[in-house]
Amino acid sequence: MIEKIHHIGIAVHDLEQSLKFYRDTLGLHVHAQDTVQDQGVSAALLTIGTSEIELLQPLSPDSPVGKFLERKGEGLHHICFQTSDVDAELDELKRKDVPLVDQTPRKGLAGMIGFLHPKASHGVLVELATPIE
Ligand code: CO
Repeated sequence: MIEKIHHIGIAVHDLEQSLKFYRDTLGLHVHAQDTVQDQGVSAALLTIGTSEIELLQPLSPDSPVGKFLERKGEGLHHICFQTSDVDAELDELKRKDVPLVDQTPRKGLAGMIGFLHPKASHGVLVELATPIE
């Protein structure tokens, strides 16, 4: 079951530069920051109420976020829905013939995550996440 919007992912050219706005100007708290080799990004999560903003800087131009920046420039990259069981959720979507990027969950900054194919969700890249306590 989808519970809420966990975070909104924003593609940026320079993570430190983007933190000057989101952290320093807006005053949002950075609660996680790491390099996720698997996704080819250097990322930060900032708390905003019960949701989060995820800033994503590509590690290389040929990574998925690098290609996104090349095509579309900085901006909204994906929306992440929180679910208590990302594994079961992906299985359920597979049964409903929903096109997926990830067939099984993998470790992301927000916990165990999986991406749907954007053609499934009318042009918006959707991520599902189950936070790890
Ligand atoms: Co995300």
